[in-house]
Amino acid sequence: MHLTRDEERILSGERGEGLRRAMEILVALGDIKGADRFIPVKSAHVSGVSYKTIGDAGLELLREWASSGATVKVPTTSNPSGLDLKSWREFGFPQEFAEKQLAIMRAYRDLGVADSCTCTPYLLENIPREGEHIAWAESNAVVYANSILGARTNRESGISALAAALVGKAPNYGLHLDENRKPTFSVSFGVELEGPWAYSAAGYYIGEEMEGIPIFLGLKPSPEEAKALGSALAVGGVSMFRLADKIEKGVGDLEKIRVGEEEINGAREALNTANGEVDLLCIGCPHCTPREAVEVSKLKPSIETWVFTSRANAAKLGKKRLHENVKLICDTCMVVSPLEEMGIATIGVNSAKAAFYCRNLSGLDVKYAPFGELVK
Ligand code: F3S
Repeated sequence: MHLTRDEERILSGERGEGLRRAMEILVALGDIKGADRFIPVKSAHVSGVSYKTIGDAGLELLREWASSGATVKVPTTSNPSGLDLKSWREFGFPQEFAEKQLAIMRAYRDLGVADSCTCTPYLLENIPREGEHIAWAESNAVVYANSILGARTNRESGISALAAALVGKAPNYGLHLDENRKPTFSVSFGVELEGPWAYSAAGYYIGEEMEGIPIFLGLKPSPEEAKALGSALAVGGVSMFRLADKIEKGVGDLEKIRVGEEEINGAREALNTANGEVDLLCIGCPHCTPREAVEVSKLKPSIETWVFTSRANAAKLGKKRLHENVKLICDTCMVVSPLEEMGIATIGVNSAKAAFYCRNLSGLDVKYAPFGELVK
């Protein structure tokens, strides 16, 4: 990678150990990926916020980084933490876990990272413009930013996103470049997708089957459906999709796949491990919009339902009364919170990503179905 004088100075440690370390990470990444140079980024979004996912080693690393005095150069938002930062006691989160989580939040604050604690920064907190280069971790946010907003980001890790935030730059490769943003296969549907659940099931199937950038002809997802689609595609490693109204030049030559009822049902079967009663309904992967929270409430669930969202979205709901079984829970999600340590064994979800990770990361049994079915 070609480095400017200034970048070389940072790498030599002239600007402090924290920045040197960040630059070392970015140069190593850029060299592996074949980047030619650095490009400035307008914002960053870091993952690796929950104590459940980063543990003591992650906390120590953040503390060390923060003690170097380095702070982010661009607006930087954070992914969900392991608990509701204000109401963790009421939800029954373990004290020891909470202490570690709060220490992580202090380290991020010292680094200048906002405690937005949401995986949908693109809805309110951090909305990039079309064409802007950004450095985001959190796979669903990466897909949404690239595909719906037209911003440009690779799927960063928590560490590389934080390093880019501290330096204010990212290596120029992958989805920052025009030539890597073209569709590589096209998808048609033999079934009408309706609602986030159907989009998530389709996205899961496509992400498991194919690699690259899908182009969807004639699909017009709502923001809620687009985030469900993107999050599920990302489980299989997809970082961008394209929506098109009509067949564009070259698209006819691409490999094609078709998604019908059989594929949607297959995704459901693959993700479902529980068919009986569940302990808790968990909605909000990715974090719910205010509209989704109200829709969940209107269905009057008969068992306790946690609606995961950002504090900014919760504020938009204001004092709106929700059904007595619906609890808004902020700053965290069903995957990165320690539900399995809180006496919960089986949950109901309407998100393919939540179903996949709650089973594989947390060992929970999962009923995966449209929300309307879950409440019955
Ligand atoms: Fe967000 Fe957690 Fe799902 S971070 S995308 S709600 S796994």
